[in-house]
Amino acid sequence: MADLDDRFPALEDLRARARKRIPHFVWEYFDSGTGTGAAQSRNRADLDAVLLAPAILKGPVTPDLSCSILGQSFTAPIGIAPVGMSGVIWPDAERLLARLAAKQGIPYCLSTVAAQSPEVIGPIAGARGWFQLYPPTDPDIRRDMLRRAREAGFSALILTVDLAVMSRRERQRRSGLTNPPRITPRLAAQVAMRPAWALAMQPLGLPRMRTLEPYVDMGKGLPSGAHAGTMMRTAPDWEYLAALRDEWDGPLIIKGVLGASDVPRLAQVGVDGIWVSNHAGRQFDAAPSGLSALKAVRAAAGPDMPIIYDGGIESGLDVLRALAHGADFTMLGRAWHYGLGAAGAAGARQVLHILSEDMKACMGQMGIARPEEVRTHLL
Ligand SMILES: Cc1cc2nc3c(=O)[nH]c(=O)nc-3n(C[C@H](O)[C@H](O)[C@H](O)COP(=O)(O)O)c2cc1C
Repeated sequence: MADLDDRFPALEDLRARARKRIPHFVWEYFDSGTGTGAAQSRNRADLDAVLLAPAILKGPVTPDLSCSILGQSFTAPIGIAPVGMSGVIWPDAERLLARLAAKQGIPYCLSTVAAQSPEVIGPIAGARGWFQLYPPTDPDIRRDMLRRAREAGFSALILTVDLAVMSRRERQRRSGLTNPPRITPRLAAQVAMRPAWALAMQPLGLPRMRTLEPYVDMGKGLPSGAHAGTMMRTAPDWEYLAALRDEWDGPLIIKGVLGASDVPRLAQVGVDGIWVSNHAGRQFDAAPSGLSALKAVRAAAGPDMPIIYDGGIESGLDVLRALAHGADFTMLGRAWHYGLGAAGAAGARQVLHILSEDMKACMGQMGIARPEEVRTHLL
């Protein structure tokens, strides 16, 4: 770890290295927002603007990062957010990250449109595995997916509500990535320039959305302009949410909340947690940053509703900034893949190391032993 710490002291170092090892079109899929990228930049700018008061003469403190939400305990308020086709960004990413999460005592959330199925990932992620649902149109498919998630051992269900329609993702298009994806000579040339990725991908074969495969007749091919994910996904409404609440008896979290005015109704439906997110700025370029929405969402939700934050986190300090604004827990999407791209499984572990060590260093500056105490340091 010492060597990795010298090579990659910050997430930015992992990102720079990963960029050199991941094919350009994959990078553009993974790292871009939508539109001009303004919502993505806003996530970063709003985190940077949060100031926290240092403290003096507090004596020695021993930071303890452990926490619990949704009836589960974690070693730190940090987890792995769902990322579609994670296994394309870095080969076998789902398995590598689920293993890391289980070993380190943090949650791993599997996406509906991951390259791996709940049956494979559930046993690896263990009790801290969460399953993210893009809402299938057909209620029978929905119920079947819930059954599969439950039987595979996933403990919490995350319903993503900020993808009612696909965004345009212009950067992704410019890179030559088509929908559905096709390996054109241009993409093949980009792959040839990234041998480490290509070699690691070779034994795994062409990535597929394995969770969806049982529901899609792949033999007939997919209609042009769609892939299995968009074919099956509906834009959910309150009625859909109520049905889902009836069908899933474990913790249910709504991901993609930015409006405090939605919170009372979500609480009324009986959701167990709220995940504040603007989807890493990938959906709506005019969306506020998650951070700017957090305080109002916390005020509307009251002190007891678990609130998760994601978007733009690059350091342990950023985790504390989100907690200071009312989050109980934070998740990261891209960062883990920067780690994988830079140095494989050890690189993903380095992400957690950077975040944890930075949290402890910053907590030392504030003289606090528990992360949630940061709320009293918000300037
Ligand atoms: C490449 C990529 C794919 C994503 N796929 C999904 C997904 O399948 N389901 C979902 O709920 N969120 C998805 N997200 C959003 C993440 O779960 C998370 O909200 C976001 O990445 C957090 O921001 P960060 O990457 O700055 O940490 C995706 C994000 C990225 C970057």
